[in-house]
Amino acid sequence: MQLDEIQNKVSRLKQEKNAVILAHYYQIPEVQDLADHVGDSFALSKLSAGLPNQVIVFCGVNFMAETAKILSPEKTVLLPVEDAGCPMADMAKAEDVKRLKAAHPDAAVVSYVNSTTGVKAHSDICCTSANAEKVIRSLPHKKIIFLPDEQLGSYTAAKIPEKEFILFKGYCPIHEEIMEIDVKLAREAYPDALLLVHPECRPEVRQAADFVGSTGQIIRYIDQSPEKKFIIGTEQGILHPLQISHPEKQFHMLTGSFLCPNMKKTTPIHVLESLKEDKTEIEIEKGLIDKARIPLKRMLEV
Ligand code: 13P
Ligand code: SF4
Repeated sequence: MQLDEIQNKVSRLKQEKNAVILAHYYQIPEVQDLADHVGDSFALSKLSAGLPNQVIVFCGVNFMAETAKILSPEKTVLLPVEDAGCPMADMAKAEDVKRLKAAHPDAAVVSYVNSTTGVKAHSDICCTSANAEKVIRSLPHKKIIFLPDEQLGSYTAAKIPEKEFILFKGYCPIHEEIMEIDVKLAREAYPDALLLVHPECRPEVRQAADFVGSTGQIIRYIDQSPEKKFIIGTEQGILHPLQISHPEKQFHMLTGSFLCPNMKKTTPIHVLESLKEDKTEIEIEKGLIDKARIPLKRMLEV
């Protein structure tokens, strides 16, 4: 089927079903173009909590669609590709939170939204890569259990030295692959470009960067910067909105293969089938939803 035919069918079904399509910046360009809203994890979870539509098609990975379901349990939330997961989110289990809580009863549990619903249900508050520092500063606790991402945890811990952090050793396999040598080579290849990286990168990569931020923050940084050349240190899907908004600027990827395979699973055909056949609907037990909604709502209040 041609892309414009898919687009027409998707528009018709969206109207019929009162549906909205959300896509993360890491989705392929054709899926971003089909979406009503494209954003980072924080923007999309905030948005999903207040949308008037009955059906949300979430083009991203499963923790994102689950977050939308937890925040809007009365809605139908669809994840077009059932096995689009996040390996980092799956690294921490609810049992890990219970174990850490038992070992540090005076600590607050802060979970990155890239986590399972079970982990969220045992957390005091959630955060994203866009608001981790603000969320943790809002807590009265001196001790913080942070999971699953050790990198976002250590990045945030360095900004709040007055608090003690207990970091779970999870990581994003995609961002973790970027090494100091990649930075050196990219700096040599593009000496007058600014390097912008995601906090999920290794400390030595973050320290060598000109700016560290979530995908949304990297885009805003470039929107406001008078500079013309940038090296991008996060998943390559982010290039699509950047190239549309700034055709006059130059973007180079920090490495040639900065790609999250799970984020790349969704295609326009999957979006169409998802709308047509209501698949795959996110279903979470009500008791778990009620528990996991508390830390997410706290994050949104902060
Ligand atoms: P953002 O919080 O920047 O949307 O990133 C989500 C993510 O999965 C990063 O790998
Ligand atoms: Fe998960 Fe990493 Fe993919 Fe983000 S880029 S969805 S953290 S595996």
